[in-house]
Amino acid sequence: MIIWVTGTPGVGKTATGRELAKRLGIGFIDLPEYVSMNNLYKERLEDGTMVVESRRLAQHLSKHVKGDTVIAGHITVKVRGHETRCVVLRLNPLQLRERLEERGYSVEKVAENVEAEFLGVVYLDALRVFGKNRVSQIDVTGKEASDVVNRCVDVLEGRDAGDDVEWMSRLDEAAVSQLLRYLSTTKSRIL
Ligand SMILES: Nc1ncnc2c1ncn2[C@@H]1O[C@H](COP(=O)(O)OP(=O)(O)OP(=O)(O)O)[C@@H](O)[C@H]1O
Ligand SMILES: [Mg+2]
Repeated sequence: MIIWVTGTPGVGKTATGRELAKRLGIGFIDLPEYVSMNNLYKERLEDGTMVVESRRLAQHLSKHVKGDTVIAGHITVKVRGHETRCVVLRLNPLQLRERLEERGYSVEKVAENVEAEFLGVVYLDALRVFGKNRVSQIDVTGKEASDVVNRCVDVLEGRDAGDDVEWMSRLDEAAVSQLLRYLSTTKSRIL
């Protein structure tokens, strides 16, 4: 079984995935590290982002992953020969903005990721790749890493149905307008 922990950059995939693997006593792969070590990218952009070839990545994983493994990464691919469950970590886009700004990401990159989180882009990707029955979401906003791991385990073991995260309805009106204002001013600054 592969347990794919995914989400927008900065939501806590690596931290959560590593702890989850430890808790379950199974292997762990941090995807950016794996892609870099095995040269599975087409090119490296100026800001360090690796452009990944999904097909090559899927083939490599199919060949090399043995046994139960947690994979943490913001892209998702189907790995042949393994059952997969996927958990999408969702973080309030306003908090994601703070976290990514603290990391020193460019204005453009922060806005791009905040928008992607707001719209649920990674969740949609996961649905497309794995299908609805294999994908669950967890709202990690304000949750400690250990709580997030507990919820992952409950979701995987079928005790917890996960969250139906849709920020437009989940956030209050003030937060949504703050977010929309931020996105429109940032985007008009970039364009
Ligand atoms: N539950 C949490 N509560 C508070 N901070 C957290 C939590 N999970 C992770 N963090 C912090 O958020 C930052 C991003 O976490 P992490 O590197 O695990 O994210 P990621 O999703 O793997 O990011 P990337 O897409 O860049 O690999 C780190 O500084 C981490 O310590
Ligand atoms: Mg990571």
